[in-house]
Order: sequence, then structure tokens, then C-alpha cells
Amino acid sequence: MGKTNSDQRDVYYRKAKEIGYRARSAFKLLHCDEKYKLFDGVDTVVDLCSAPGSWSQVCAVKLEEYITQDRKEMASTQESMFMFPNGAQCDATGKIIPQRHRVVSVDLQDMSPIPGVHIIKGDITEEDTIKAIINALGGHKAGLVVCDGAPDVTGFHNFDEFMQGQLLYAAFSTALNVLRPGGSFISKIFKARHINLILAQMKLFFSFVDCYKPPSSRPDSCEHFLVCKDFKPVEGFTPCLKNPILSKNYERTLASYTPIQKKYVPLLACGDLSGWDKKEAIDKGLMDALGLNDDAFEKIFMT
Ligand SMILES: C[S@@+](CC[C@H](N)C(=O)[O-])C[C@H]1O[C@@H](n2cnc3c(N)ncnc32)[C@H](O)[C@@H]1O
Repeated sequence: MGKTNSDQRDVYYRKAKEIGYRARSAFKLLHCDEKYKLFDGVDTVVDLCSAPGSWSQVCAVKLEEYITQDRKEMASTQESMFMFPNGAQCDATGKIIPQRHRVVSVDLQDMSPIPGVHIIKGDITEEDTIKAIINALGGHKAGLVVCDGAPDVTGFHNFDEFMQGQLLYAAFSTALNVLRPGGSFISKIFKARHINLILAQMKLFFSFVDCYKPPSSRPDSCEHFLVCKDFKPVEGFTPCLKNPILSKNYERTLASYTPIQKKYVPLLACGDLSGWDKKEAIDKGLMDALGLNDDAFEKIFMT
């Protein structure tokens, strides 16, 4: 018998090949769905960091019914529509019809087409990319936002953890902008020191938050998935696309926020730059916002 490499011996790698998934990662999303029923009642999905596209393949299959219906509707209204050279369409009265895509996928890298999936090439940490996603949804909100984003790993753990945190934050900012109330958000996360802080932050916006390692995720990696369900937008909080940590001028970006954004955004962007100081957390009302007493604060921020 010839030698096989570890990928070929991996059951999910072989299964993915058999079924035609572009990557074994497809099973991570399928396992998460099996446990948390992510696709129940969902008609629109945004897939962030999607290349080569196995999660998008899963999403397209799960949403096939809606996608087929969209195609039929488009075909039946085609005659009464007028199409401009840039692809925009208007109805018989001249009203522009917003384009509506059921699965919108985004990645830095090129991705081969998948039927029913609208692909955007872009960086999810950039404002223009979030605008392009909002545009592609044609005024609708998504029931599910997924992100399997991974930075190029350098081997410097703190740096890799920070970069992964920034992808998670960018994905979460996108979710705040495109998710409908009651919707779900799932993102890859490297389980590390600050996991409790991240879970506490997510609980500000979702009724249900969990951290899960699907059986298809390699046991020797620190990869986990953050699963957030039942999105409940905070009253008075309007999501903003600017990230103070990535901004060239932290103070100026922060100064442009509304009072409620000032309270939430630095906390969400991986902690305030001045660090976790209990007095400051009390002054800023963060302990109240997170529903924390002294013990819980110590446990989350000081461990
Ligand atoms: C593990 S792969 C995703 C696999 C995908 N879920 C699938 O099932 O085929 C991670 C992806 O994250 C993408 N990525 C990393 N940083 C990104 C960024 N800032 N914006 C968009 N995509 C990014 C990479 O290009 C890479 O394709």
C-alpha cells in the first residue's frame, strides 16, 4: 500500500473530496448547524472570509429553496424590466429595483463562482467592503452572518491572537450592520486568555452566546467557534463602520462617536487602549452595561 499524507488520512478531507466541497472546513459549519440549528428560519446569509468557498457551498445548499424562487421571479419579471449597462434594473415605472442576493461571500482572495452566491473581493476590515455587502443585500437584512477568517499565522502567539481578534471584531461590526433582530452570528476564534471577555462583550448584543469546538476542527489547534444567537440590538446604539484601533487617529475617531457608541465601541474593539482598570470600567458604566459585580469583573478581566 502506498504512503498517504495526513490530509488524505483525515476522514473529513476524504468526505469533502467525495461530496465535492472545496475544503474540509465545510464540516465545521455543518457540525455547528447540527448543534445550534443556525439555518432555521434563515433566508439570507453573509459569509465572511469565504475562500475557497466550502462554507458558501453549504449556505447555497441550505438556502436553495429561496435561491430557486429568486431565479424564477427574476425570469418572470425580466420582460417588464429595463437593464442599464451597469447592471442596475428598473421596473416599468422607471423605479430602480435594488439587487438582492441571498448568499453574499467576501474574501481577500479570488473565489470561483458558486451558483446562487454573490462574491465580493475585499478586506472585511475596510469600510468600503461593509458598504459593498450592504449594497449587495439590496436593503434586506441577513438572518445569519458567518466568518471563518484566519490571518496568515506568524507563530508569534500574541500577534496572531491580536490579528484574529481584529478579524473577529471586523466580522462582528459587519454583523451589527447587516443582521436582522433575532439573527445569528458565528465566527472562528482562537481560544486564548481573553475568551471570557469576548463572550461577555457578545452577551451585550445576543441572548445566547457559546464557544464550541466541532469534531471536524483539528484537536491540536486552538480554533473554536463563537456562536451567538438571537441578536438584540442595543437601544439607541447605531453601529459604525470605523474601528478606533485600526484608525490612524484613535482619539479623533473616538471623538466622532455618539455617547452610546463611546461606551460600547472601545470595549468591543478588544478593550480600551488604556487597559482594564476597574475604576475606569466603573466610571464608564461598563460594569453596569455588562451586568458584572466585583467577583465577576475580577474573573473576566484579571485572569
Ligand atoms: C480558513 S480560510 C476560509 C475557508 C472557508 N470558510 C471555506 O470553507 O472555504 C480563511 C480565509 O480568510 C481570508 N481572510 C483573511 N483575512 C481577511 C480579511 N481581512 N478580509 C477578507 N478575507 C480575509 C483568507 O483570504 C482565507 O481565504
